[in-house]
Amino acid sequence: MAKGKKSVFFCQNCGYESSKWLGQCPGCREWNTFVEESVSGAGKGAAAKGISGTEGQTGKRNEPVRLSEIQVREEDRIKTNMEELDRVLGGGIVPGSMVLVGGDPGIGKSTLLLQVCRQLTLQQHKVLYISGEESLRQIKLRAKRIGEFNEHLYLLCETNLEIIRSTIERLKPEAVVIDSIQTMYNEEVSSAPGSVSQVRESTGILMQIAKGLGISVFIVGHVTKDGSVAGPRVLEHMVDTVLYFEGDRQLAYRILRGVKNRFGSTNEIGVFEMQEKGLEEVKNPSQAMLNGRPTDASGTTVVCSVEGTRPILIEIQALVTRTNFGLPRRTSVGIDYNRVNLLMAVLEKRAGLRLGDCDAYVNLAGGMKLGEPAIDLGIVLSIVSSYKNQVIDEGTLIFGEVGLSGEVRGVSMAETRVREAQKLGFTACIMPKTNVEGIQGKYKIKLIGVANIKEAMEYI
Ligand code: TYD
Ligand code: MG
Repeated sequence: MAKGKKSVFFCQNCGYESSKWLGQCPGCREWNTFVEESVSGAGKGAAAKGISGTEGQTGKRNEPVRLSEIQVREEDRIKTNMEELDRVLGGGIVPGSMVLVGGDPGIGKSTLLLQVCRQLTLQQHKVLYISGEESLRQIKLRAKRIGEFNEHLYLLCETNLEIIRSTIERLKPEAVVIDSIQTMYNEEVSSAPGSVSQVRESTGILMQIAKGLGISVFIVGHVTKDGSVAGPRVLEHMVDTVLYFEGDRQLAYRILRGVKNRFGSTNEIGVFEMQEKGLEEVKNPSQAMLNGRPTDASGTTVVCSVEGTRPILIEIQALVTRTNFGLPRRTSVGIDYNRVNLLMAVLEKRAGLRLGDCDAYVNLAGGMKLGEPAIDLGIVLSIVSSYKNQVIDEGTLIFGEVGLSGEVRGVSMAETRVREAQKLGFTACIMPKTNVEGIQGKYKIKLIGVANIKEAMEYI
């Protein structure tokens, strides 16, 4: 390394900075994520200046203004006409905001953003799509699958941020897509594209452009497991909105999840399905998730989880078999593994099931991931149903949190869940007793309140 340059170690996962190499990151507890990067004095530029960098652009000093004098109207938001996306964004794109779209490679980030470009250009907004990953021809081929585009979309294959900045300043688009931030580089920073200092610096420059010119910027960031390039977590605190695009690449469903949003609620999700012609919105996820559900099979239950404001019905499947080799095997897909183990321990202790010498496999159908405790009771009853090889009536919805002493605790938004079940033709609901009290008799659907797992098991 040349003299005069400082060399620093960065965690490629969360951006933690250290003067020496560390095996485990004190910030995010990941192992082997530290990489040496050289930072020159000038390199700190844009990132250090941060958002207030707008001052430098206009050359004026920012004067304080009264809060009441600032005009904000709801109609300032640009609707993308993709309802699933608009909801996650909190009602549309806020001009001048910066949105980070993260996700595994190949999950459909470029496709999603190209579709956003198409919707915006259809409304006569000028959009610039900058790709550092694909050639113009490749983008054209993708665009052909998605549909017709008009003349308001501009494409640029470029990774040099200085050129990108001058192009944006010349073209003055209303929205810019950067695909992906890991390919962009700034000449002032000596480390390689994709390293923490490059990614931070690039984002800082884009942030100045976004805030200074009032352009909405979408940034694509790849999530990386091996830590060879800096992941989107490094940038989460810099941008206004962070969306993660998740799902199983083998399955068609994709979930767009809001992780951070300065202009709306997080926890909202958007559901998409990858098809031949790009991503299709799934307006009724419950229906989609329950498609192809087996009938008359033991070990399956339907639970209701509320994601943001929206209830989604999902099938849980459990398979419990006798262990063949000494140690029992347990796996779970889409549900926290430790939670499943905990619930099995509760069943063993409080309901007297001998699960200690059983293998157990618990899956969430449709490639979804759920973390809400309200699905506990569904997991428990799936396991019991498979263990006893007895079927649960397929018209029954189950929800409720299970505590360590086997009690079934109340959950929030019980009424929303009951309503969704009724809408989809369910006939009964096994739910916490405390939740039944207020709404008994209000709905056609039969509400069965249970206080503990033993009571719930009687309905199998
Ligand atoms: P892509 O948007 O390139 O993913 P990312 O930018 O997140 O890396 O999408 C990749 C996958 O999507 C690819 O395997 C092909 C599939 N795909 C479809 O199934 N239908 C389509 O219309 C398009 C454009 C892509
Ligand atoms: Mg891509």
